[in-house]
Amino acid sequence: MRRTPPHLPFLTGPPDFTVGLRPIDPQDWLLPDWEADCLPEKRALIAQQREAVFRCTQGAQPLCTEAADSVGAHLHIAAGGDLVAAAVAVSDDLVVMAPAPDGGYRAVAAVLCAPTYFSAQEAIGKDLFGLHAPVPDRLADGAPGLGRRIGRVFSGLQPNQVLERFNWTLQPGPARYTPSSGPLMAIADTADAADALALLHLRVERQTIRKLPQTGAVLFTIRISLDPLSAVFAVDGAKAALVSAWANAPAYVRSYKRWPRMERLMRAAVATAF
Ligand code: HEM
Repeated sequence: MRRTPPHLPFLTGPPDFTVGLRPIDPQDWLLPDWEADCLPEKRALIAQQREAVFRCTQGAQPLCTEAADSVGAHLHIAAGGDLVAAAVAVSDDLVVMAPAPDGGYRAVAAVLCAPTYFSAQEAIGKDLFGLHAPVPDRLADGAPGLGRRIGRVFSGLQPNQVLERFNWTLQPGPARYTPSSGPLMAIADTADAADALALLHLRVERQTIRKLPQTGAVLFTIRISLDPLSAVFAVDGAKAALVSAWANAPAYVRSYKRWPRMERLMRAAVATAF
């Protein structure tokens, strides 16, 4: 049965590259898991492609142990200090960010089974500037704005406080494991426009950050929700809001999110929806 999408972030307007983090009740961190249906697929992916989806750098084990056990405690399971055991118990991907001597944070371990066009291999070792280098920077002073602003949030984070934010885009098809946009864009180029309403999916990333009290690491979690536009448009007001957000997003955001490649399908989906 088709569900009502859990998040409709475009209802508040077009996307932009902002920090947009807000504190939430730590009890609402990872539960309920409204994407738990993907867990068998996630477990199979880890079993089949462990090297591609899991990385832990030398020396990061104490941070991974604390991260795994904090997830375990929240889910009421025994993760035994094992990041993968924690990651297969919840739909969210887990990235462990270690405090660095320069005051920044660096990705030292990750289980990434639903990445939006990046991989554990690419992320590991990078700091917040390196991770966000591909994101167009729009601060007037030309300084590396996004990485710097996120760094400030990381430094000011209080132990066990949980902050939440959302990113979203559209994609053709329901694929969760998307380390590269290439295969999706090939679908976008060739798909039959008559299928657009069922094919195009809203992809929402719910991200959280939490500082771990013992090691000072920051655990970054990413939960992906995927819903076809047919389900999105069934919500009152959602079609008009999405059309408006799609059209009014700044050109650099549209281009970064590869929206021009999906314009043909988006138009067809809107035209065929009731
Ligand atoms: C919690 C604070 C963070 C904020 C506010 C933030 C913000 C953003 C924004 C605005 C984008 C552009 C994507 C879009 O809007 O669709 C982005 C992309 C990205 N972020 Fe973050 N981010 C944060 C933390 C992290 C962390 C901890 C990682 C570590 C893995 C990370 C990895 C990435 C990657 C890999 C991309 C895609 C870059 C690319 O296109 O290759 N982010 N982030």
